[in-house]
Amino acid sequence: MTDVEYLEFLWPMRHYLITCGDFGKVSNIIAVSFCMPVSKEPPLIACAIGLKAYSCELIRNHKEFIVNVPLQELKQQICFCGYHSGHQVDKFRETGLTPKAARRVKAPILKECVAHLECVVRNEVETGDKILFIGEVIEAYANVDLVKGEYRPGYAQGEFPRKVYGIRFR
Ligand SMILES: Cc1cc2nc3c(=O)[nH]c(=O)nc-3n(C[C@H](O)[C@H](O)[C@H](O)COP(=O)(O)O)c2cc1C
Repeated sequence: MTDVEYLEFLWPMRHYLITCGDFGKVSNIIAVSFCMPVSKEPPLIACAIGLKAYSCELIRNHKEFIVNVPLQELKQQICFCGYHSGHQVDKFRETGLTPKAARRVKAPILKECVAHLECVVRNEVETGDKILFIGEVIEAYANVDLVKGEYRPGYAQGEFPRKVYGIRFR
C-alpha cells in the first residue's frame, strides 16, 4: 500500500456556487465542493466553509445560505469565485452572474444556475480549518427549461481538482 493525499480518491466531486448575505446590502458567492445531503427528514445539507472565507463570516452573521447548482458551462465563473475572495472583489460584478431575489432567505439566487436550495442554518461545527454549516432546505426549485436539455452537472475532475484540493486545501 502507498500513502496518498486523503482527498485523492474522493473525487470527482460536484461543485456548487453558494450565495450568502443580504441581497441589496452585502452578499457574496463562494465555490464549494465540500457539500452533501445529511438528512432527508428534515431535509439537511452540510457545507464546509473555510474559517477565513468572507462567506463564512456572512453565513455566521445571517444564518442562511443558498446552494446554487451550476452546469459545466459556468466553469470559468466557478474558478473565479473559488480563487477570489469577497473580502477584495465584488464577484457578481466580476463574473457577470446575476443575483435575483430568493423566495424566503435574504441571500440572492444566481439566475444562471439550474437549481436553488434555500437553507437556514440549524447547526455549526468547527471541524478544523472549516466550519461545517448544517442547513435545513426550506425551498428547493429549478429552472426546468435548463434541466430539460442535457443535464450536465458541474464536476471537479481531471487536473483541476488536483490543483484545487491538493494545493489549496492541504
Ligand atoms: C471548485 C472549487 C471548490 C471549492 N470548494 C470549497 C469548499 O468546499 N469549501 C471552502 O471553504 N472553500 C472551497 N473552495 C475555495 C473557496 O471558494 C475560496 O477560498 C474562495 O476564495 C472563498 O471566497 P470568499 O472569501 O469570498 O468567501 C473551492 C474552490 C474551488 C475552485
